[in-house]
Order: sequence, then structure tokens, then C-alpha cells
Amino acid sequence: MSETRNIAVTVNGKRYERSVDVRLTLADFLRGPLGLTGTHLGCEHGVCGACTILVDGQSARSCLMLAVQANGHEIATVEGLAPSAERLHPLQEAFRDNHGLQCGFCTPGMLMTLVEFLRDHPNPTEGEVRVAISGNLCRCTGYQGIVAAALDAAGRMRKGG
Ligand code: FES
Ligand code: FES
Repeated sequence: MSETRNIAVTVNGKRYERSVDVRLTLADFLRGPLGLTGTHLGCEHGVCGACTILVDGQSARSCLMLAVQANGHEIATVEGLAPSAERLHPLQEAFRDNHGLQCGFCTPGMLMTLVEFLRDHPNPTEGEVRVAISGNLCRCTGYQGIVAAALDAAGRMRKGG
């Protein structure tokens, strides 16, 4: 028998109130009831990083959290990164310009991981970037373009881009 709870969460600045099954993961809550399918599901057990989001500014695996655990918290997903419909976030621009993606499946998780990392490490070394994304698996790029994009984005953001 399923059990439900009422939750209220803020996602990308918008408040949502929903009744959810207590077993529903946060990833499935974002992708299903909220329709925010930018958060991807790869492994669904905490390994691949495709489902990475920010919870109160800290990166988290949304496949390993329940929706009820997000009650009262602020969530940021890839849909909220770009400042407007006409303008990308500098990290997104850098991914585009440095071939930081191919199929794009890992990209939302990479972006959310790197947004947090670059916020806390605005002038990273290549080695620090590689460690930062070591929990995010990419099957396409060989990581070189992603690392280049992260370093490029750091420079753009330091200049206020
Ligand atoms: S889907 Fe969450 S870590 Fe892979
Ligand atoms: S771009 Fe395809 S998995 Fe990373």
C-alpha cells in the first residue's frame, strides 16, 4: 500500500506544493510531476552523476534522495542555469565552444557539478577540475573537452562573463 506526504520545494526559484509517494525519488519527482527532464538518470544508484542537482547550493545525487527529503529545501537544476531564454550561462557557453559534449547525456550533471565547483574554486588547475568531475561519467568525450570547457568557463566567470 502506498503512503503519501505533502511537500513544498523551491526549484529554480519557483515554489511547488505536491502530494508525493514516500518512495518517489527526487529525480523521478523532478522529471515526472514537475516535468524537468533536464536532470538525467543513468545508473539510478549513485555512480554516474547524470542526476546531479544542487540542494541548498550543495551538489547531490537526485537518484539517491527521496522527494520527501527535499521538503522545505531549495533545488537548482540545469533548467535554471541560463539567465534568460536568449542567454546561456558562461559554463554552458564554454561547453559549446570547447566541444564539452557529444550525446549530451552526462552534460546536465557535469554542469551542475561544475557550477558548484567553480563557485568555490574560481581559479582551478586542470588537475583540480579532473578531480571535481571524477564522480561524473562520460561515455563520449574522453573528458578533454569538458576539462577545457571548465577552465575556459572559470576564466569567463572571473571576468564577469
Ligand atoms: S543516475 Fe544518479 S548517480 Fe547515476
Ligand atoms: S557527452 Fe555523451 S555521455 Fe558525456
